This record gives sequence, C-alpha cells and structure tokens, in this order.
Amino acid sequence: MINMLIDINNKKSKINKNIYGHFAEHLGKCIYEGIWVGKDSSIPNTNGIRNDVIKALREIKIPVLRWPGGCFADEYHWKDGIGPMENRSKMVNVHWGGNVENNNFGTHEFMMLCELLGTEPYICGNVGSGTVKEMREWIEYLTFDGQSSIANLRRKNGKNEPWKLKYFGVGNENWSCGGNMRPEYYSDLYRQYSTYIRNFSGNKIFKIACGANGVDYNWTEVLMKQAGKFMNGLSIHHYIVPGPKWEQKGSAIEFTEAEWFETMKKTLFIDELVSKHSEIMDKYDPEKKISIIFDEWGTWHDVEPGTNPGFLYQQNTLRDALVAGIILNIFNSHSDRVRMANIAQTVNVLQALIFTKEEKIILTPTYHVFNMYKIHHDSVLLNVKYKNIQYIYKNDKIPQINVSASIDLKNKINITLCNLNHLEKTKIKCELKNCKQKKIKACILTGNKMNSHNTFRNPEEVKPKVFNEISFKENNLSLEIPKMSIIAIEISI
Ligand code: AHR
Repeated sequence: MINMLIDINNKKSKINKNIYGHFAEHLGKCIYEGIWVGKDSSIPNTNGIRNDVIKALREIKIPVLRWPGGCFADEYHWKDGIGPMENRSKMVNVHWGGNVENNNFGTHEFMMLCELLGTEPYICGNVGSGTVKEMREWIEYLTFDGQSSIANLRRKNGKNEPWKLKYFGVGNENWSCGGNMRPEYYSDLYRQYSTYIRNFSGNKIFKIACGANGVDYNWTEVLMKQAGKFMNGLSIHHYIVPGPKWEQKGSAIEFTEAEWFETMKKTLFIDELVSKHSEIMDKYDPEKKISIIFDEWGTWHDVEPGTNPGFLYQQNTLRDALVAGIILNIFNSHSDRVRMANIAQTVNVLQALIFTKEEKIILTPTYHVFNMYKIHHDSVLLNVKYKNIQYIYKNDKIPQINVSASIDLKNKINITLCNLNHLEKTKIKCELKNCKQKKIKACILTGNKMNSHNTFRNPEEVKPKVFNEISFKENNLSLEIPKMSIIAIEISI
C-alpha cells in the first residue's frame, strides 16, 4: 500500500505541451506509405497525406513534429524537395536501407502536414553535409515576406505568404551520423551556422543545438560553455535498448520477465540522465533559459523478422506503453528544464504510435498512452509526496510506482500512474489537500500478458478502458492499480 499526498496549492513548473511531441523521418515507411501516399493514391488522402493518420494524430493533439531527420537531416538538401514533383532530384537514402528517395515529400508537403494536424513544425537543418548558405536560404524561403529571389521561388512553387516557423535544429547527432564531430568542433560550427539563422518578417526562430548522445555529459558541458549564449535549446537523444548490448537488442514481442524488468530499470534511468544534464546546464544557465529538447527517445528493439533491417519496423506491446508512460511522467517532473520531447517515431518506425498496411491503420499501445496523457498538456505540475514500494525481481529492485500530477487552467487535476510490476498490484491512497473538486473519471491501459499488442487481425487487444474501481471521498482517492498497467485520472469540479 502506498500513501500519497498532493497539495493542489503546491504548484511547480508548467508542463509544456511540446513534451508530448513527435518525430517523423524519411526512414522506412514513416513518411512514404505511413504519412504520404500521394494525391493519386486510392487511399483516402488530403493533397497526398493519409486522412486516417491525420485523424489519429489530431485526436492526440500532436503539438509539435520534428522533420526530416534524424540522420537523414544531415544528408538532406532542401532544394531537392521543392518545385514540380517530376523535376525533383532523386538521392540514395544511405542510412536507411539504401533505397532511392524521390523527394516527393518536401518542405511544402511538410508544412501542409503541420497545418492539417494543427501542429508546430520543428525542422532540423543540415550541418554535416550542408552549407551555411543553404541553411540560411531555407529559413528565408520559409519565412520571408519580401521580394527576394528565394522568397519569389517559394511563390513560384505555389506559396505566396510565408509560413511561420519557430523551431529549428542546427544539425542532428553531429557526434555520429551528422559528421563524427568532437564537441569543441561542433560548438564552433554551431556558433557559425546559428548566426545565419535570421529572423525574417517578424518570425522568431528558437534555435536548438545538437545535444548529447545519452550519458555523454562532456558534450553538454562543452556546448554550454562554448556556445550556450547562442542557443535556446539543447537536445538529448537516448533510446531504451532492452538487451545487454546494441548488437543484441532483443525482440519487441518475444521477451522474458527478466527483460521486462531490465526495460523498466533502463527506463527509470532517464530521470538520472535528465538530472545530470540539467545540473551541468545549471552551472552556465542558472535561470534555466535554455531548454532541454529531448528530441529522440523511445524503445529500440530488433526489427520484425522478414522486414528490411534498415526500416526499423518493430512491434509495440504493453511493455512499450509502460516505457512511454514512465518517460512522460519523468519529463513532466523535469518540466522546469525539459520543454520539448519527440518520441521516435510517429508511424511504422521504432516506438511507433501508428502502423499502416495499405489502406488500414492500427493504433499501438504507445499511441493510447499519448491519448491518455494529453490531459497534462500545458497544465501546471503538482508535487506528489509519497514513499514508494519496491518492485523486487530476483536480486534486484526498482521503485514500483511512477506518478505525475498536474492542474490545468480549469482547475482540473490530472494524475497519471504506472505500475511497473509484472506480477503484483498495489493499493494506493492519495489525499488531495485543498481540493474542492468533486467529479472523478479514470481510464486504464493494461493487458493480459507482458507482450499484449495490437495487430491488423486484432487491432484492439490493447486499448484504454474506463476504470471504475476507484473511490473519491472527502478528498481521499483510493484505488488498486493492477500489475503492469497505466491509469489516468481526472478530477474536476
Ligand atoms: O530515429 C532513428 C535514428 O536514430 C535517427 O535518424 C538518428 O538521429 C538516431 O540515431
């Protein structure tokens, strides 16, 4: 049994809705087939973009979308992706299966996608193989409302008025696929490239520097010291790889109890990771003006047997849902510094929210977590006081319950709870101090097995259900959280 106390007057930082952001790369079937089918497709679409995917992403109120990569970003030359489709140049997508990229989905198509979704675009520029001029011109093409040659090229391509663009990343993983750079070298390049990212026509760019690979704290230290004053955000990338090493990631579906436990343990580590990067940033930026933009996260399993290894297509089970629930709770708890995060990736790739197969789509357990957690968007974090119990497995143990609470502008209180334990339920009592709210509703996401998942044959094996076994009397909430489950609770007036 766990006793919790939430004082609704004990408010902390605002949870930026962009923590619930996404990432779509030109990789495997994420963009092509997953999002873009082209205007002439028999699959219902709006100007080439799948209607079913638009509907599903609008439902979760996708706040921000990162594009075009990933590793693809530092190979991408934006001028290849504008103008008449038949004239667009074709390139080899070297990182992801070596297939030929026809550039049918380019700047105009991406910006249209964001408009259809009502989401904020986040574009990642090319530092690894691109030039300063090329990056500068991309911004001008997108945002300048005057009569320059570049802005007129945009007009010739059908877009008279400029777009608004806020988020721009200066390279991706420049410590690896983005140029194998040292932090000292990248810091200098960042200073140079970011200088030429101009604010045209009243548009104001939020500049994001390439951040560390997981525990590379030295990268953060060097970047903050050498280039901190030129950036608005610094990224972090970290994936949860359940297996013992990169070469042995393990199957998304066939896994043992030990692998479940290990996955949960590795997921909880994100808290330490963010704390340590934040601490370093605090030294240079005590007022926390520079945001952590955790722009790639998620599980990385072996690809599904028989699929192209370069397409990173993996199934998504209840285990992945728990990973998402825990990580989103952790990001909420660091919302004083983490102001955007982007799960990798939106459709058909890695910890996908949606799978497509010709004209069909299915929603994954991870999708349902994002749907349940949207209650936290732009709410204010509340402190939750409690003493956790331990989830013991063999000779190891980790905290069993993971929780986040927030209050929104309408004074609705939102609580998201995860029970990591694959065998044991637990009782939770929670006092809500200073609470005048009376109505309660809750839903639960769980499954019969650790690897419960959705397929095209059985698309609703894992989906949220109303959770009624909860009582709320005199400000005391009481429930029993089943093993391996996620519960979202809303308390209103
Ligand atoms: O998300 C897949 C890849 O993972 C991205 O392209 C890259 O940035 C990271 O290594």
